Amino acid sequence: MNPSIHHVAIAVRDLDAALAFYRDTLGLKMTERCEVPEEGVEIAFLPTGKGEVELLRPLNEESGVARFLKKRGEGLHHVCLAVEDIEAAMENLRAAGARLLSEEPRVNVHGTRYVFVHPTSTHGVLLELYEAVG
Ligand code: CO
Repeated sequence: MNPSIHHVAIAVRDLDAALAFYRDTLGLKMTERCEVPEEGVEIAFLPTGKGEVELLRPLNEESGVARFLKKRGEGLHHVCLAVEDIEAAMENLRAAGARLLSEEPRVNVHGTRYVFVHPTSTHGVLLELYEAVG
């Protein structure tokens, strides 16, 4: 299976203000909004025809997204590709010397396994890999 873009994530300071644009003005539907305390963020997902837009805002000053906003302001935070086999993808990346942000895949609230790859290994963009389910 060819990896496909699962979502594009945008770091924002004010999630309600961002939703006023992406949902209310642009017309995307929001299917999920929740806090992810272990990542220090609140997220909202807005599916498009293919792939989703993820909006994320920091829950506290220590969050990586808070540091991102301080350094770079609002904007593109990461791109997420869905892969068939995350272990194989991680193995392949490690063999190529890529810098993964965790040794093992992390698991989100939906049971999806994911991992982040550092921007220094990806020509400047934080990359997330999701393991495609089904
Ligand atoms: Co993401």
